[in-house]
Amino acid sequence: MITGPITSFDQYLRRVPKVELHCHFEGTVRASTFAELARKHGTRLPTEDVGRLYDYGTIYQFLEIFALVSSTLIDREDFARTAYESLADGAELGNLRYREMFFNPTLHTRRGVPMATCVEGLVEGIRAAEADYGVQCRLIADIYRQDDPQTALAMVDEVLACRAPEVIGLGMDGAEAPDPPEKFKDAFARARRGGLRLTSHAAEDGPAANVLTCLDELGCERVDHGYHVLASPAAVARCRDEGVFFTCCPTSTSVVYGWPELSAHPIRAMVEAGLRVTLNSDDPTMFATDIGEEYARMCPAMGAGPQEVRRLVLTGVEAAWLGGPERAALRAELEAELDRLDEQLAGLPGAPA
Ligand code: ADE
Ligand code: ZN
Repeated sequence: MITGPITSFDQYLRRVPKVELHCHFEGTVRASTFAELARKHGTRLPTEDVGRLYDYGTIYQFLEIFALVSSTLIDREDFARTAYESLADGAELGNLRYREMFFNPTLHTRRGVPMATCVEGLVEGIRAAEADYGVQCRLIADIYRQDDPQTALAMVDEVLACRAPEVIGLGMDGAEAPDPPEKFKDAFARARRGGLRLTSHAAEDGPAANVLTCLDELGCERVDHGYHVLASPAAVARCRDEGVFFTCCPTSTSVVYGWPELSAHPIRAMVEAGLRVTLNSDDPTMFATDIGEEYARMCPAMGAGPQEVRRLVLTGVEAAWLGGPERAALRAELEAELDRLDEQLAGLPGAPA
């Protein structure tokens, strides 16, 4: 992380302390590390050119490479190293302070990697990154929507059986259009009984109705993405009135869903509709971004000045699955740092007010 006084609004946006609640561990592996791990384990890659490993234009092509990256994570050290690098990148590039990070257990266990290897490796990397960078991280196990319901139920059981304190929730990802949320009602119910918090990707590539299914039938407390909720004024009104949190991701969705102009990205309309939105990096290395870059690109595109930026950051604090004292401590720390940065920004000629 660059230190010293900020000299531009762009630097301010990268330097603002951040919380992120929508970031996939497997989508944070550096291309260079992916290539090294592939060599270590004898995995064939589609290209020798490290700069082209993460080239794709649809969610389906992306998910293929996501699975290939996952297939190079085998030993506990692989998980520990990549989790550490993932958080180091967040802290260095975007002043990340707290993350709730998804991982896809079945992309690993179906290849014979024990759940314990995966969880223990992740936890080792997370604890080392916290010691070195002060960044905290918790884990959310994601159902992979293309799995069958029995596989998802067994995954939840395994997660509950080898639960480190860092593992706090259940989520769901993968391609949404072919596999609607109700398919996994039983797995969500079991996770809830086991004490996991609940969220799901919804209305990313599916209808607004999927948001309501996630809230009403799965018991989700947050919605990941949620853009197509805008197609239903009734669903928008309900989410606004109930204060539902949406974890939105500018860059990844601009690539795979064709919203190249961020000023026309649905995130802007969601904010304008009064929904509670947080900004997140989704799969940062796989979309050539980072959490600092997401703020640096999206905030100017939606006309957000420092007050709106503060609101985005603090919405993340409110949406985080923290206990009361931890939330209050994080909020106080972030507010103090935002105050210092706002003071510096106010001293820059021509900076947004
Ligand atoms: N897996 C990783 N990132 C994802 C996303 N944005 N949508 C669905 N599945 C994913
Ligand atoms: Zn995602």
